[in-house]
Amino acid sequence: HGTSKINEQGHLEIGGCDTVALKEQYGTPLYIMDEQLIRQRCREYMDAFRATGMQFQVAYASKAFCTMAMCRLVEEEGLSLDVVSDGELYTAMQAGFPVERIHFHGNNKTPEELELALDAGIGCFVVDNLIELHLLNAIAAEKGLQPKILLRVTPGVEAHTHEFISTGQEDSKFGFDIGNGSAYEAVVQADQLSSVELLGLHSHIGSQIFEVDGFEVAAQRVAEFARQLQRDKGIYFSVINLGGGFGIRYTAEDSPLQVADYVQAIANSIQKNFADSDGAVPQIWIEPGRSIVGDAGTTLYTVGTSKDIPGIRKYVSVDGGMSDNPRTALYDAKYEAVIANRAHDDSSELVSVAGKCCESGDMLIWDIELAHPVSGDLLAVACTGAYNYSMASNYNRLRRPAVVLVSEGNSDVIVSRESYADLVGNDLVPARLQASAA
Ligand code: LLP
Repeated sequence: HGTSKINEQGHLEIGGCDTVALKEQYGTPLYIMDEQLIRQRCREYMDAFRATGMQFQVAYASKAFCTMAMCRLVEEEGLSLDVVSDGELYTAMQAGFPVERIHFHGNNKTPEELELALDAGIGCFVVDNLIELHLLNAIAAEKGLQPKILLRVTPGVEAHTHEFISTGQEDSKFGFDIGNGSAYEAVVQADQLSSVELLGLHSHIGSQIFEVDGFEVAAQRVAEFARQLQRDKGIYFSVINLGGGFGIRYTAEDSPLQVADYVQAIANSIQKNFADSDGAVPQIWIEPGRSIVGDAGTTLYTVGTSKDIPGIRKYVSVDGGMSDNPRTALYDAKYEAVIANRAHDDSSELVSVAGKCCESGDMLIWDIELAHPVSGDLLAVACTGAYNYSMASNYNRLRRPAVVLVSEGNSDVIVSRESYADLVGNDLVPARLQASAA
């Protein structure tokens, strides 16, 4: 997919770069990001919304993959940016991302984060609870500012891949419940505060979703709620944000929709549900993360040892693992992979791919057919662009891999491989513990 293909040497090539050459140049493990594919996904969202004729914003959910170069790409493609911490905000600001196009999320923004974002001139806060609402209003008042806000509501829809669960009241740490009246109360209070400007509502129903029905029900509930506030209080919303969660294809078992189909369905349901409102149809905002970067990422590993347990399983170990991709261990995630230096070799052997971390749960892929991997082979795991680098750790003091951005035969390092010095860079040894000079 994307710009991937098998070249004349039988090597996997991505963005016009031979993965065998990438290994020689940068080492492994290596995250490879396909610039063309990231841009293509951004354009699919923007074009699909433009086709609806509605007003919109597409905010890339940077939690999926946040680096300065990524912020630049997203900026160039005209998207907005969703951040959930001072660290993501700082990264975006260092990249020169226009702060007025940044939305600040999170269920526990600290006072320092609110100040940092206010001082920077953030585009919008997605306010999660009453404590935050009043704190933000107070800090903004002190500074003589009036930030734009959305209120995050939980519409009682929880979506997982194919099904969605419709619940009266959602057991979630996020947002204000529509079902029990707390969202209503929050809107009334926000409307009365003089140092915030209430633009509208936000809802996010889940991640890796393949169907549109969950979004449709959420849109319907949010619209009903909005109409109730119009009737009762004369409060009109200009923005409805339906969050992210659009699924991608990790393996043949996954059957996501096309980006344009998700967008069309969301636009339709907002239009339909607000058609009989006496105000204007609100703008639609969304926040895709995984579907912008997920399939643009490939992780390259070098195969090392293996252990064949006759009649049970063959483990093949690579030079990374749960430290660069914790998703298999955490979520039982599924991935596809190929032997990148013999990508044309269609022989096959059933193996399980293990990492090098010191625990049994450190697996990348259970039960996959690969072309007889042997020590020194290169393994390319597909669809690792989202929630891999961003969730990587230094477990076992492994150094986090480099990230290279590939496009039309060029490769650029966008995150350097961590060094040994980086590993101990923040370590301090109290004087009484220092190694005495021999
Ligand atoms: N907006 C909000 C408020 C969110 O909480 C999320 C994801 C998104 C947008 C973006 O969702 P996406 O389009 O990427 O599905 N670590 C997990 C995924 C956690 C998603 C958290 N929130 C994983 O690796 O599958």
